[in-house]
Amino acid sequence: MMGSESAEAVERAFSKQSVVYDRDDARNIILRDLRRQVYEHVERFISPGSKILELNAGTGIDAMYFARAGHTVVATDVSNGMIAQIERKIALANLEQRITCRRVSYEHLDQITGTKFSYVFSNFGGLNCTPDLSRVTRHLPALLEPGGLLTWVIMPPICPWEILGILKGNGTKAFRRLKKNGTPSHLEGEYFITHYHTLRAMRLALGPSFRLLAHEGLAAVSPPPHHSEFAARHTRLYSILRKADKLVRNHFPFNRWADHIIVTFRYDP
Ligand SMILES: C[S@@+](CC[C@H](N)C(=O)[O-])C[C@H]1O[C@@H](n2cnc3c(N)ncnc32)[C@H](O)[C@@H]1O
Repeated sequence: MMGSESAEAVERAFSKQSVVYDRDDARNIILRDLRRQVYEHVERFISPGSKILELNAGTGIDAMYFARAGHTVVATDVSNGMIAQIERKIALANLEQRITCRRVSYEHLDQITGTKFSYVFSNFGGLNCTPDLSRVTRHLPALLEPGGLLTWVIMPPICPWEILGILKGNGTKAFRRLKKNGTPSHLEGEYFITHYHTLRAMRLALGPSFRLLAHEGLAAVSPPPHHSEFAARHTRLYSILRKADKLVRNHFPFNRWADHIIVTFRYDP
């Protein structure tokens, strides 16, 4: 399992962040664009009325989106603060019939029993908090219907924008994702380890009963979300870089090297 100290720090960090999460998300123009790209990707594969299991659901931004699109969602997260935010939003939007939420770590998905899902979704690097994806994937055969789909949005070890930082004298960030035992992260005064996963690591963890359907880079050449001031200051350049993303994101190496990658597999047992 994830080291218990690191797991507790993750819980504390995201619980503290939960109260400002939606405000920060709404203000960040890059995040808005990237979320739209994730939805466009999922919409190529998802069937109407799908039963979605969402991992690391955060404040439920995506759960709300999918529920409003007619799907049902079981939204899970390890953070008490995030779960409280989802519960509040479900009640405000009267979406109790469409979304239920559970405080559970994706390393303990065996706590979810009695139902199978047609889609397992994880957005924006929640899975980068585990050092070993097989701690999550080992639960999937019990949770996914045959033919069910999985879309995960994960941070890979190579991000071209960070490597380009060398040119601007910011060499420390350039290869930080490649550290062997993970990269120390700092959020809301808490320290924990972030683990960057390759597409190959995902394939190995999922095993031969999962077939890769698609993968694309998210912010392959455009700036990652924490550079939202760059996007706001250089609107023309940012829009050119997003257009460049569109041209390269489905091709090697930018379908593997990016801030995040969006990966979809089908479960064919
Ligand atoms: C960057 S946020 C992304 C939230 C959401 N998916 C989104 O797109 O806004 C990462 C989330 O992963 C959750 N998380 C981290 N480790 C987890 C674990 N072991 N099990 C479940 N959720 C976890 C955090 O609590 C946090 O809500």
